[in-house]
Amino acid sequence: MMKMLRRGRFGRKMDPLASEYTSSMPEDVRIFDSVVSINLAHVLMLQKRKIIEKRASKKILKALLALQRGGVRRVELKPELEDVHMAIEKYVIDKVGEKIGGKLHAAKSRNDQVAAAIRMTLRRDILDIQKEILNLAKELLKLASQNSKTIMPGYTHLQVAQPTTFAHYLLAYAQRFLRDAERLSQVYERVNLSPMGACALAGTGFPIDRSYVAKLLGFDGLVENTMDAVGSRDFALEAMSALAILMCGIGRMAEEISLWSSSEFDMIEIPEEFASTSSIMPQKKNPVVAEIARANAGRVLGELSGGISLMKSLPQSYSLDLQELTPMLWNAVDRTKSTLRVMSKLVRGIKPKPEVMFGRVESGYATATDLADTLVQVADLPFRDAHAVVGRMIANALREGKPLGKLSLEDLKASSREIVGREVKISEEEFKKALNPEESVRSRTLPGGPAPKSVKRQIDRTRKAVENLKKTVASREKALSEAEKNLRRKVEEEFE
Ligand code: ARG
Repeated sequence: MMKMLRRGRFGRKMDPLASEYTSSMPEDVRIFDSVVSINLAHVLMLQKRKIIEKRASKKILKALLALQRGGVRRVELKPELEDVHMAIEKYVIDKVGEKIGGKLHAAKSRNDQVAAAIRMTLRRDILDIQKEILNLAKELLKLASQNSKTIMPGYTHLQVAQPTTFAHYLLAYAQRFLRDAERLSQVYERVNLSPMGACALAGTGFPIDRSYVAKLLGFDGLVENTMDAVGSRDFALEAMSALAILMCGIGRMAEEISLWSSSEFDMIEIPEEFASTSSIMPQKKNPVVAEIARANAGRVLGELSGGISLMKSLPQSYSLDLQELTPMLWNAVDRTKSTLRVMSKLVRGIKPKPEVMFGRVESGYATATDLADTLVQVADLPFRDAHAVVGRMIANALREGKPLGKLSLEDLKASSREIVGREVKISEEEFKKALNPEESVRSRTLPGGPAPKSVKRQIDRTRKAVENLKKTVASREKALSEAEKNLRRKVEEEFE
């Protein structure tokens, strides 16, 4: 290696501590396949543009093909080689000799090559993560469709607010995660652009064909400005932001899974396979998967904030600081992926406890708003007065320890005398109906509301959106596979 890179400029090897400290070798394994493909495409282009002669390009391509087949084990991943880019070049030179192999790096730089390789690796990860999100959304939709009549309390400020259904609650997450998947679709558009040809930062005077290389590698276009192409990582920050936002939602859901399954709330049962027990307290069922998911939300956000901090004051264009962002990106990707996978399985096994949920609706006087609404509608009270009348009735009930089911029209009349100085005109039937949680849910047929009818529409629409996005992901996967096949074909044609 000393011979290859340093022999001109330096007289001595790099200090072993220094090379180990600055090498990206361990992390580079992840981008190995992409870097080999980039080299193949680059050589095809050099040959097409007559920058290298066919005889040389064939020899280099042959060595690269052998490397592609043999995989990363074929190269020496020693830190003194600095990175996988140098290891691959060394492999080619060892195979075909310096005279020919030494031509491989004309009109490219590690700077454009690494940016291209990260983008190529990341685009596959984005598609994988989108599929995992859509799987989770499908599990949520399935559970929702089984629970459109399971009444549960909706909370604000973690205080019982209004009755809703378990289905409506699950749909809130399904629709939110669908947006996360859509966000990643937009990120993909900016990730899948080719920096190749930017070389170190100023491009090259060689008559290269950037678009040809981009097409061979399955990119949808170019990162135009060559300095921007090698010096920017906002595509990675954007991907990490989308992952951090996604994981923030997952963390909230995980938090609620652990809350609702606690003996205090006791509204859901999580499957045993996703819980652990205590080494000392035999009664425990700890929601450990949800806890690790919640923690991973923090870790992914940590990678994003680390990454932005690393980038924020860097001079244009390439500095080796950029190398340190890459493993943060992969950490964020991997933690998100594994979290989505396990959470989908966990969600599939969740069992709601309808009686307990209903009990919480009653003990929290969740239909108070409905009664106030009824007073507006049938007794012609301004909402503010209705709010105060019902509020007083509940304050009295709480003082007397009277649960929702024991409240009578007399109680309402008493509080209305206290608040507005007269008795409100409302029938016994209207009173009972207003306080009935099932009636409350059934009345909320508005778009997006918890009424079973409305929930069914939401499930249908969300399912369709999931299927549509699945198709987009599949067609992008197909385009990438076709680009890979085409590159292989083009390389093989060189040997016909
Ligand atoms: N190992 C580097 C990275 O991952 C590749 C580019 C190195 N460029 C350089 N000029 N040293 O970012």
